[in-house]
Amino acid sequence: MKFYAVFSPVILTVIVLLSLCVPGGTGLSTVPRNSDVLIVDPDIPTEAIPDDVAQQSVPVDEPVSYEGAQLWRVDFDDQRKKNAVAELQAKFDGAMWAFNATSVDIFLKHPKLAGARKLLRRAKISFDVVIDNMQRAIEQENPPKDQLELWENRDGHHMTWTAYHRLNDIHEWMEYLGKTYPDLCSTKSIGKSFQGRDMKVLRISNGNPSNSAVWIDGGIHAREWISPATVTYIINHLVEEWDEQPEYIRNIDWYVLPVHNPDGYEFTHQYDRLWRKNRRSAIYGRCAGVDLNRNWGHKWGGQGSSKQPCSEIFAGSGAFSEPETKAVQSFMQTSAANWKGFLTFHSYGQYILYPWGYDRTVPSDHEDLKRVGDEAAQRMKKLGGAQYTVGPSGDTLYPASGGSDDWARGVMNIKYAYTVELRDTGRHGFVLPASQIQPSGEESLLFIDSIASAISKL
Ligand code: ARG
Ligand code: ZN
Repeated sequence: MKFYAVFSPVILTVIVLLSLCVPGGTGLSTVPRNSDVLIVDPDIPTEAIPDDVAQQSVPVDEPVSYEGAQLWRVDFDDQRKKNAVAELQAKFDGAMWAFNATSVDIFLKHPKLAGARKLLRRAKISFDVVIDNMQRAIEQENPPKDQLELWENRDGHHMTWTAYHRLNDIHEWMEYLGKTYPDLCSTKSIGKSFQGRDMKVLRISNGNPSNSAVWIDGGIHAREWISPATVTYIINHLVEEWDEQPEYIRNIDWYVLPVHNPDGYEFTHQYDRLWRKNRRSAIYGRCAGVDLNRNWGHKWGGQGSSKQPCSEIFAGSGAFSEPETKAVQSFMQTSAANWKGFLTFHSYGQYILYPWGYDRTVPSDHEDLKRVGDEAAQRMKKLGGAQYTVGPSGDTLYPASGGSDDWARGVMNIKYAYTVELRDTGRHGFVLPASQIQPSGEESLLFIDSIASAISKL
């Protein structure tokens, strides 16, 4: 407990951030079962931001290198080990990417490795190196550039599902769909990001006035590249094979925003592969970025979100303070669409999650949400795909307030509101090789199908 004294009187809060893994879950009840990032958020008052944190607000023009940075899986099965992990986070800038009952995945930058290793050795805590050089993993994630160029200008667009693409490729391909299938598809920019990029939505509709509507978004967290890739895979399949779709899919108006956080997405391509938040400039000269999935207006600012701009889960200065969330809120609220589904895609961990996210509690119709989620998960498994865990978000993952799914359900009253955490369970984490885009897309289509079918029965 010595370590806690370092920050005294500051209370250290261990906040579990994202999503990750390990089928079968755990037996721990006091600690959330899984996460894609677990962060010690020291809740430091404004005056006391340590230099190395404050420096994060320095403008970046050189790309960040993760040369030598590693992902470790560390034993985590008792309180002593948990304290050691908290120390890794606080003293060695370790970012927790995932954990289960027995181990945690900690991301460490190269200069911190020796000290971190010493700490664990001294405490006799064993660990494995899962990724031994993050920079190399990043370089191997996408196929080589010259291979990409072979696909240049097919049909007037550059989109594929064998590589992760830049925002411009995605947007141009959406325009292409609008031009090629004018009776089925239209695109619309529903607003601008903080830095002025378009928030481009594709609408797929047969124009039947009695249709229900489903919202799909990807890429609200910048580094979760499999999300926009999977969402565009879904669009491509629906559009290119529209006539073969069952009636319950054709009688839905689909509204799809593949890149919810375009500034962050471009930032991960150009400067920092592991950036999560949007790119709102530093507030009070401190850290940049708001976590867009803590910025929505249902129970904003509660558990699992932070008031500290340097936190990875900074909720912003108020609900809908960010142009990226505001744009979707206004669009959905002013639209005449008959919203019945809201699906937001993240990575990683392989979860199908439903409200509530702000606390460990469920809405009264949670059994319906569970049944449809389970059906999709079973179909994915049968297809030979990945195994997904289905459950309420706060309880299955960890409570996190201000999420878009909670807003969709709590404010918009959309029955089928889900957050999907795509592949994998931690071997590659956020840096998932592009060869997994297609299997991820195929799995996700089964989920889309199950949702559409459930909506047709409402
Ligand atoms: N990994 C996601 C996040 O941290 C999970 C969100 C689930 N939804 C929620 N309202 N907590 O943003
Ligand atoms: Zn996410």
